[in-house]
Amino acid sequence: MSQKDVIIACDFSSAEATLAFLDKFTDCKPFVKIGMELYYAAGPAIVKEIKARGHKIFLDLKLHDIPNTVKKAMSVLSKMDVDMCNLHAAGTVDMMKAALEGLTREDGTRPLLIAVTQLTSTSEERMQKDLLINASINDTIVHYAKNAQVAGLDGVVCSPLEAGMVKEACGQGFVTVTPGVRFADGEVGDQVRVTTPARAKEIGTDYIVVGRPITQAEDPVAAYKRCVAEFVG
Ligand code: C5P
Repeated sequence: MSQKDVIIACDFSSAEATLAFLDKFTDCKPFVKIGMELYYAAGPAIVKEIKARGHKIFLDLKLHDIPNTVKKAMSVLSKMDVDMCNLHAAGTVDMMKAALEGLTREDGTRPLLIAVTQLTSTSEERMQKDLLINASINDTIVHYAKNAQVAGLDGVVCSPLEAGMVKEACGQGFVTVTPGVRFADGEVGDQVRVTTPARAKEIGTDYIVVGRPITQAEDPVAAYKRCVAEFVG
């Protein structure tokens, strides 16, 4: 079901900026991630436009609501013909099952459905104190990943350093999608736990999500191709 690939995080604030960026890719069609900022600014039209240009799309909207609402929302996203979408595992197994139902089209096909376990911005201390979760962050991540698997989801978003333990707990076929990727000679920025595309390949993650190392590069196409060469080989 999964195929190793580099997903470019198109964290732009308008359709114009996004399309101008994608125009640079004349001889390849990268898998792109559309997040909340771009989706809320440009709406379903930007998804349609990028899809019509031949790109695969990860719609990163991280749904979290009562099961019925998430089911209906997922059914709308499914009609938009995206290739991957996601939700928060914290919404419970019932919510994830409902999401999967909503996402599945009449012919049985559906986009990949990936769960967010604990956001990488949440520290163990904040998780324990703010969320009152009395466990280690690693145990929580593995538990949420197992819940996602029980619900029938395809995998989880996690940091590159968590991908190994998720695969160990849920099996090699359970998909991991990992942001926090930086070139060995590049800027780290605000990401804390980072890894290189080559190391992500060794760890065995399925998809890497790369934003600024490509979008802010002097030559974004060359940076993308370098990522693909290091990660996919
Ligand atoms: O620019 P950069 O490579 O840091 O972009 C990473 C992308 O992955 C961003 O869109 C960010 O929101 C997303 N992401 C992340 N960490 C998570 C979940 C999503 O960096 N835990």
